[in-house]
Parts: sequence; structure tokens; C-alpha cells
Amino acid sequence: MCGIVGYIGTRNAQGVLLKGLSRLEYRGYDSAGVAIIESRKLNLVKRQGKLRILADVLKDDPSKGTIGIGHTRWATHGVPSDTNAHPHLDCTGKIAVVHNGIIENYLDLKKILLKEGHKFVSETDTEIISHLIEKYYKGNLETAVSRTVKLLKGSYAIAAVHSLEPDKVVGARCDSPLIVGLGEGENFMASDVPAVLDFTKEVIYLDNHEIIVLTRSGVTIKDYDGRTISKKSSTIKWDIKQAEKSGYEHFMLKEIYEQGDIVSNMLDERLRAGKISFEELAIKASAFKRFKKIAIVACGTAYHAGLTGKYILEEYVRIPCWVDTSSEFRYRNPIVDKDTLFIVISQSGETADSLAALREAKRRGAVTLGICNAVGSSIARESDGVIYTHAGPEIAVASTKAYTAQLAILYLLTFYLGKLRGAISPPKMKKLIAEFKRAPELMNELISEYKDPYNNIAAYASEFKRYYYEKHNKSYFLYLGRNINYPNALEGALKLKEISYISAEGYPAGEMKHGPIALIDENPWVVCIATQAKTYDKMLSNIQEIKARSGIVIALVTEGDKEIQHHNVNYVIEIPKIDELFSPLLVVIPLQLLAYYVAKKFGYDIDQPRNLAKSVTVE
Ligand code: G6P
Repeated sequence: MCGIVGYIGTRNAQGVLLKGLSRLEYRGYDSAGVAIIESRKLNLVKRQGKLRILADVLKDDPSKGTIGIGHTRWATHGVPSDTNAHPHLDCTGKIAVVHNGIIENYLDLKKILLKEGHKFVSETDTEIISHLIEKYYKGNLETAVSRTVKLLKGSYAIAAVHSLEPDKVVGARCDSPLIVGLGEGENFMASDVPAVLDFTKEVIYLDNHEIIVLTRSGVTIKDYDGRTISKKSSTIKWDIKQAEKSGYEHFMLKEIYEQGDIVSNMLDERLRAGKISFEELAIKASAFKRFKKIAIVACGTAYHAGLTGKYILEEYVRIPCWVDTSSEFRYRNPIVDKDTLFIVISQSGETADSLAALREAKRRGAVTLGICNAVGSSIARESDGVIYTHAGPEIAVASTKAYTAQLAILYLLTFYLGKLRGAISPPKMKKLIAEFKRAPELMNELISEYKDPYNNIAAYASEFKRYYYEKHNKSYFLYLGRNINYPNALEGALKLKEISYISAEGYPAGEMKHGPIALIDENPWVVCIATQAKTYDKMLSNIQEIKARSGIVIALVTEGDKEIQHHNVNYVIEIPKIDELFSPLLVVIPLQLLAYYVAKKFGYDIDQPRNLAKSVTVE
């Protein structure tokens, strides 16, 4: 949510900032701006709209400065506009600030600043920061920032420059991510690692209440009381090429296609001689043996992975498990204590509600385990233990590969815990692992079927648009699943609405009669996940009930299913045969592709859907 970049060095700052911002555009893309110091003057350019609009303006009148800050925005306070875009200046026009987060007490602070004569031009909360820095500025930007941040309530990562101090960029963080990139004769700060990876792989992760000063020759980090903090840098292991489209039309398609290989690499990395290994995990086996319940919290797609986790953990570890969205968890009074294993799942590791939920669970004494994709993220660092999904950078806002990677880790964790606690016998374990190992190949088989652009899902998407949406001037989707594939029904619906803006609802099929059936006529499309033997007959009955009311059915069935042809369904998608325990890894792929092709048919911006952001770092 909002991306910030700061640079000081010898290169052209404009180029560095634009490159960095382009890597952060997944965080927000309703406006963008830069402030560059040139000849002791601030060169401020900001524009509503995507980064390319800003880049076009800058091309015509490039700035030559070698120090500056930049921002890509996801609006919270104030509509997307040139004025509300960051950076924001103070009254003198010498101080510029970019910010990610929300300043909750900005109205109180603004009232005081207005009384003191400060003039505001935007509707943002951020602008108070530049005016506070102005108020406290006595010739040293660092001191002024340090006095300012003590007054701020809420979440922020900020970067600030002063035109009369062209030798430093100052930053601070509280509950919004900020990293430092270390170079030779140049240094960087940014909301996330990809922004600096074109220039350096050496990064420092900042913690809350730290102030950094970047100069050309070094970086100093202090706490809010001015004490110097020494921190180790980490070397990023992945390459920036992984965050590029590599010839694909969209990141989302590329990421869907990567899923089989990610699970395959994960099994190679995590399975050693039939044993599951989580090398990075700092929680001792003895701690895993003693807890009495499991709590899982997450948001969005990660929450759906968590829901699947409940089915498998309860079945194979035989421990009660509940799942909550992070935002609900943190505002109720949950029974979480030292006997609870608290699992927080997060691709970015920065989602504000998930981070707050984690802190609350820690406060209540639970053992906390993060399942994260982003290495070094806040959730990864603050959990007692972390397991990384290693899915590589996920750029498309709609999550795909992070989801299957989270599912795969949940299977491994389940088997690990089941074995440790004696709930899975060695022969059973052997069988489970052998079947799991088949999954990546089958995922790749399924994916390769869909690499043909004229595949059946693309054709269904076309028909949906032409014969249903346009004919009825609207249509919508209902996704039905049962048991372990019920979360996939939710995920399929989420994917569709995220990128195609078409109403979609996921439901447990057994609940259809308690509401959704009232919606069925010849208009909505109903996606029925009918791959599981255990609930197959029940799903067939649901299909009959939909067809009896003229509904349009897409059935997902297991390859070789002979029965479905007798049920008058409109469209069929076949899934390779695997033990139904692992079917969620396969079933979700056509659901992701269906959303993708529908959005493509409608011509929407698939990787950057309206109003959404990939990393939701505000409440
Ligand atoms: C946003 C993203 C989703 C993601 C959710 C949780 O809504 O658009 O794709 O699933 O946040 O994010 P996390 O990083 O915590 O998994």
C-alpha cells in the first residue's frame, strides 16, 4: 500500500526513483511523484494516474539531481489527484516528504499547525508531516524528523529531503515496512526489496521506531531517543529477473504457470530422505508437542489457504483448529493462550491486520508461527518461528502462486506435526508423501493443457461475455465446493471479482438451499467443484437442483468421469486424478485461469485491478 523510494548517490536520481517505483507499483498505482534536489532547489513533479504518466512528463524535462525521493500512491485520505499525490511540501517549499501508512491524529495536529499559520494544499494526512518537520527544522533534517515522528500516531514509513541539505535522505518507520539498500557511494531506502534490486542485493530491514539517515558514504540508524543502532545487512538470494514478465502478457498468467515448479522445488528443498525439514524454523519440536489447539489467521487469499489448513490439520494431527480473518480476530476476545499454536499466513508478511493479530496472540502467550513469502518481512521477524514459502516475488495483485505455495507448506506442516505427535504412522506417512510428490507434475500437466490460447476455459469466458453478460446486461458467478475444496470455491470467487469486477460468491454447496438457490435462473453461472469421491453424489444433487432452475453449470470433475455427461451440465473442466486430499492444489488452477480469461475478455487491467493493492499495510 503506497510505495516509497529514497536515493542518494552519483547516478541520475530520476532514473533510479522511476525504476524503483516501477518495482513497487503493485503497492498502489493511482498517482505517483518524485522530488529531486538539483542546485539546492527541489524539483517536484507528481501526477494522478499510473507511473507511466509521470515518467512521460519527466522525460520532457529531466532532472539532473543525484538525490531524491519518490512515491506511488494507493489513496487513503483524499481522492487520487495531482495535488494529493506525494511528495508533499512544507510552506517554504524546501522540505519534501513521501509516506506510506495512515497518521491517525492528523486532524488534531493539522488544527495546531493551521493556528500557527501553516498553509495546507492537499486533503492528505501526510502533509502534516512536512509542516511538522518545517516547524522543528533548525538546520538539521534528522533532528526535525526525529522530533516530528514522536508526535505521530498511526502507521508510517516516511522519507524526507531538504533542499538545503543535498547530502542526506532521512527516513523513519512505525508499522509500515522500510528497508535500506546498501551500495558503493550510493544508498537507497524503499518500502520493499524489489525497488533496490536493480542496484544492490545488500539490504537492511528496519524495525519500528528507527530513524535512518542515508548519505552517499553510509547509513546511520538510530532509535527515537537518538541512540545509534548497529544492524547486520542481509544478501537477497533471488534475482530481479524473477520479478519481470519474461515475455508473458501478464504477471498473473506467468505466476499461474509457475505453480507446479514452485511446489516441486519446495518438495526437493523440504523433503530429505523421507523426512520433512523446516531449516529456518526456530520453534523446538518439544513446543510443537505440547500445544492443545491451533489458531490460524490471515487475510484475503491467505485466509482461504488457512481454511484448507483447518481441514487437513484436524484430520491428520487430530487437534482442534479454528481459522479467522485477521481483522475479526484482533477485535474479539479469542481464547488464545500458551497452549495455542498460532499460525499467521501472509504472502507479504506486512499485512497490517495480520501483524496486529500476531502481536495480540503473542501478548496472550501463544507460540506463534508465520508462513510468509517475503523473506525478512515484519511477520517473519516477529513470529516465534517462520516457514518461508519461497514462491519468489509475486507481482500480480491477485494472488495465485503464493496460495498454492501456502497450501503446500500447510500439507508439509500437517505431516510434520502429525508424525511428531504420533497421529500419523510411518507407513501412512510414506504413502502421504508419495502421493504428494505426484502433485507438482500433475499441476504442470494441467497447466500445459492451458498454454494453448484457444483452450476451453478461454472459450467459456468468451461465451460468458457474449451470451450471458451482454445479453442480460449483467451476470454473476456462484462457486460451490464442499469439504476440502470449499475454500477453493471462496478463492475462485475472490479471483473473479478482484480482476473482472463481476459479482461472485463462494459457498459451501450444502448451504446452497439456504440462500443462493434463490438467485438461480438462466442468468448466473455456477461453478461446481465435483472432484471428490466423498462428496461427489451430493454435488451431483446440487447440480440437478441448479439445472432444474435453468442455471448454467461449469463442473470441475476428475479426469475420466463418465457420470457427469448424464447431468446436462453446460461446461466441463477436467482435473488430473490425485488423492482428494491434494486436489485443492489442482482444482484452483482452472479457477484462477477462468478469472484471468474473463478479465481478459473484458479488457481489464489484470495485474493492477482498480482499488486493490497487493500489500495492505493500513487497517
Ligand atoms: C491483499 C492482496 C491479496 C492478499 C491479501 C493478504 O488483499 O490483494 O492478494 O491475499 O492482501 O495479503 P498477505 O500479503 O497478507 O498474504
